Amino acid sequence: MTVTATETGTAQRLRLSSLRKTYTARGREPFEAVKGIDLDIEPGELVALLGPSGCGKTTTLRMIAGLETVTAGEIKIGDRSVGDLPPGKRGVGVGFESYALYPPLTVRENLAYGLKARRAKDVAQRVDAIAERLEMTELLGLRPANLSSGQKQRVALARALVRNPPVLLLDEPLSHLDAAQRQRVRRELKVLQREFGYTTIVVTHDQQEALSLADRMAVMDAGLIQQFGTPDEVFDRPANRFVADFVGEPAIALVDGRTEAGAVRIGDAGALPVPDGIANGKDVVVGLRPQDCHLTESGATESGAGLRATVRVFENLLEFGLATLDLPGVDVPLVVQVDVTVRDRRLPERGDTVTVAAAPDRVHLFDPTSGERL
Ligand SMILES: Nc1ncnc2c1ncn2[C@@H]1O[C@H](COP(=O)(O)OP(=O)(O)OP(=O)(O)O)[C@@H](O)[C@H]1O
Ligand SMILES: [Mg+2]
Repeated sequence: MTVTATETGTAQRLRLSSLRKTYTARGREPFEAVKGIDLDIEPGELVALLGPSGCGKTTTLRMIAGLETVTAGEIKIGDRSVGDLPPGKRGVGVGFESYALYPPLTVRENLAYGLKARRAKDVAQRVDAIAERLEMTELLGLRPANLSSGQKQRVALARALVRNPPVLLLDEPLSHLDAAQRQRVRRELKVLQREFGYTTIVVTHDQQEALSLADRMAVMDAGLIQQFGTPDEVFDRPANRFVADFVGEPAIALVDGRTEAGAVRIGDAGALPVPDGIANGKDVVVGLRPQDCHLTESGATESGAGLRATVRVFENLLEFGLATLDLPGVDVPLVVQVDVTVRDRRLPERGDTVTVAAAPDRVHLFDPTSGERL
């Protein structure tokens, strides 16, 4: 039997060009859920797709899988334009929450079904191997009706993986697993992905999951990709205010400021240094991440040397602490991460007066109108 590329899992480039989807239903206004997406994903790369509910993530995956028609634009896997191919001919494995298992079949039969339909070799061995790696050997004899939602989800994931598809699309694949299992399955997913080289898109709402899995992250909002880059790029140089706000935990503080020589003034709290090349006398939105700010000895501050603040609350989370600060003349609180591992250091307390400093390249500035990074 000749083995096709679809069965060997040969890594393939996945390219989306100007991809659009407008939903039309009788008696309803047409709704444009995806508004022109370009993504160029390297063979064997793992991309995490992030974005708020309703931004078009599932719609995008369904178009790639062939489960939804494309309104405009092109989808290419390798050198082939796949827009006109039926789902089964695209070489795409999918694990969607709504992608039902066959109720009359056992888990083993569910996993074997797609392989048998493709006349694959060693079906039983492949099913056993994937079941073991996803911690579900004991489920093989059960039927879907007798599985918990977390177990069903692992079966759906195994079914997508057992084929070694060149392209793998996963929509919240681990959302129903408990915390410990989620981390274990997440690691195994990454190992399998590296072993077999499926070009992969994973939708997730969990930022830690995205960071742990992704080679690159695509951040989506309102039907458009807002930024596509490595986790470091997205975190360190957010393209706009939306991305800055969406990526990072705890969330970035976004406060109004006004630039002056080499610094940005924030309320009546003082000023922080800014990167070179920023125009003076401009109203801006200043983004300050908890991880990038630090507290210095309290006291008077020189111009551009820091922000005076009062501690509203301090939370000791053992690995680190979070100080929530009020800045005079600023209505948004500022959260600063504090090292709590240094022994005998006095930790901040409510009511303390502190000074906040940040390095210039950690002070993110955005245009208040367009939201774009300055
Ligand atoms: N069949 C449909 N007909 C009309 N509108 C739809 C249809 N499917 C999805 N939509 C709309 O398209 C938009 C994008 O939906 P989609 O399911 O892609 O979002 P999502 O990013 O996956 O969100 P979530 O994180 O909640 O899963 C939503 O506003 C949704 O209401
Ligand atoms: Mg969705």
